[in-house]
Amino acid sequence: MSYELRHGNCFEVLEEFDENSIHAVVTDPPYGVVEFETANIEKMRDGVGGVWRIPPELDGSKRKPLPRFTTLSESDKQKLRNFFETFGTAVERVLRPGGHVFLATTQLLMHEVSNQLDEAGLERRDVLIRETKTLRGGDRPKGSHDHPEYRSVSSMPRVYWEPWLLYRKPFDGRLDENLDEWQTGGLRRESSERPFTDLLEGGKTPKTETEVVRNAHPGDGEKQEAHPNLKPQSLMRELCHASLPLQRGTILDPFMGSGSTIAAAQALGYDAVGIELDETFYQMAENAIPRLAEISTDVERRDDIQSRQTESHSLSEYR
Ligand SMILES: C[S@@+](CC[C@H](N)C(=O)[O-])C[C@H]1O[C@@H](n2cnc3c(N)ncnc32)[C@H](O)[C@@H]1O
Repeated sequence: MSYELRHGNCFEVLEEFDENSIHAVVTDPPYGVVEFETANIEKMRDGVGGVWRIPPELDGSKRKPLPRFTTLSESDKQKLRNFFETFGTAVERVLRPGGHVFLATTQLLMHEVSNQLDEAGLERRDVLIRETKTLRGGDRPKGSHDHPEYRSVSSMPRVYWEPWLLYRKPFDGRLDENLDEWQTGGLRRESSERPFTDLLEGGKTPKTETEVVRNAHPGDGEKQEAHPNLKPQSLMRELCHASLPLQRGTILDPFMGSGSTIAAAQALGYDAVGIELDETFYQMAENAIPRLAEISTDVERRDDIQSRQTESHSLSEYR
């Protein structure tokens, strides 16, 4: 098992990859695209405005900034469509026939992303529900906390789940034939009794994992913050496990952030490639991946993970 990290724009880096070379894509992209543009990232790091907003305090504790997608303008949405059109086309080219894409998104924008993946020729398979209690939505109308009537109103539901789009590159013929030729097309079962399901049990990212990533920040002192969208190892290992039906192949995360997908693949003994545009996040990933991979979860204790061969199946397969 091995992994390779690339610093750069994934759309440029992916041009170097061979067609039909990647077995699965497991990724948490910029949901609204604008939130990871340089100007907005700088504002987030300085804690001043932009798309990133601090949610209201809860029980007196200060919250971390969250991107607010209700503020996207029509031109922001067009940018998002163009971005996911390019993503869909790039991924469709490098994936093996039958290769799956697991892609995190948000209730407000998932239809826009999904339309672009359809257009790129990928096949929609499901929307996975990851249970997770967020601080999005559920707010009272502005200035109405003490209003006799409006204090009983909230503008939107509080968001308690995260959608993950599941797509697949189409293939000809039967699934068993495709598994034979490309080792892709299906999803690995949780066990012989239980298939992979589309309801993913929840949980926040544990503090220990956030701490690992915070300490991996190349800055010092107050500058050290974990990646704002760090995903839990238990979730990422569940998805990486499902993504390789025969437990062979290379997993790609083109938006790796601080490297949670790559660490998950590493913990399970799978080859992986991660790409990240932002230099600080890239350095965090380099430092954090070996430590995140050492964290123990239930997924790597499964019998089929324990018993599989852990030798590398050659990362050079993708180019
Ligand atoms: C939602 S975050 C991923 C966080 C990751 N799941 C983690 O656990 O740390 C998306 C990442 O994509 C990166 N990104 C945005 N556009 C990119 C591009 N064109 N190429 C590569 N990375 C990009 C952002 O800098 C950001 O770190």
